[in-house]
Amino acid sequence: MSATLTSNSPVLGSPIQLYDLHPPLEDLRAEVLRGLSQPQKSISPKFLYDKQGAELFDAICTLDEYYLTRTEMAILTTHAQEIADWIGDGALIEFGSGSSQKIRVLFDAMASLPTYVALDISKQHLQESCADLVNVYPNLLAIAICTDYTQSFELPAIPAIADQRRVGFFPGSSIGNLEPDEAVEFLKNVAGVLGANGRLLVGVDLKKSTAILEPAYDDAQRVSAAFAMNLLARINRELGADFDLNQFHYRAFYNPIGRIEMGLVSHIDQTIHFDGVEIPFRQGETLRTEYSYKYNLVEFQQLAEQAGFQTKAIWTDPQQWFSVYGLEVMPPSLRQTPD
Ligand code: AVI
Repeated sequence: MSATLTSNSPVLGSPIQLYDLHPPLEDLRAEVLRGLSQPQKSISPKFLYDKQGAELFDAICTLDEYYLTRTEMAILTTHAQEIADWIGDGALIEFGSGSSQKIRVLFDAMASLPTYVALDISKQHLQESCADLVNVYPNLLAIAICTDYTQSFELPAIPAIADQRRVGFFPGSSIGNLEPDEAVEFLKNVAGVLGANGRLLVGVDLKKSTAILEPAYDDAQRVSAAFAMNLLARINRELGADFDLNQFHYRAFYNPIGRIEMGLVSHIDQTIHFDGVEIPFRQGETLRTEYSYKYNLVEFQQLAEQAGFQTKAIWTDPQQWFSVYGLEVMPPSLRQTPD
């Protein structure tokens, strides 16, 4: 893998090293075109997170209806010392670091700061949040990697963590935005990146009543709707498509198979022009923007096991709305092999 170390900029005496492995615009173009050409039109949720999308998602995280962020934060805060002890020392690698708020709870409970590696698809967000972190923790060595970590990936050779045990942190129930088989593949890849003795702390939203789930994804202030709509605006901005945002509306509902389904519904029969191609939409047709899977405790442990992780600890909140798992990479002799 080729990695470019694009900046090494000291901020208050601490270096932030940025490795830019961001997929080129061509990948966005090709993936969007492929997704819009399927019978069920869909676009990968990873494209929701350009600068505007990342800011809208941060706004979602503060909504009353969106219980996930505050509940996970409360679990991390309540059990911070136990979780920090479980993590131990070594390099802490955060997958999808976003605004890096939750990691602070862990840093504050640790006897000494780990080397911190942040992975995120949104470069600007990544740089800003790492800069914020080193302002708060001037002795932190932060390594920022702009990459699509949902694809099969390896870490670039990073001298600072070469000999360190690796602990992954994947909060926020982002695992739920992958289909279960993709989640297993992703976790297998993570197990490979973490290596022998690797550990992973992962946050997963639990199944619960539709009355709580649906407003979390369709809030009164319509921030969730704006977040999904930004995907069309982004495709117009970056790829020159001509989506008319007034001709779509947002819809989110809980499918009892265990996932929230989010999409944009066309008001009318219409044709979108994109990259020399005509994309027809029927009235009422949905462009799927995201799934958000919810897992009960048994389901998620089974999924982790399929990927080669053993569950060592589970932390939840008193209402059992959200779960945080401490997983350990299984020795090869214990891993499930395909039949
Ligand atoms: C990032 N991810 C875990 C969010 C979720 O809850 O599935 C994405 C989201 N989409 C709309 N609201 C939140």
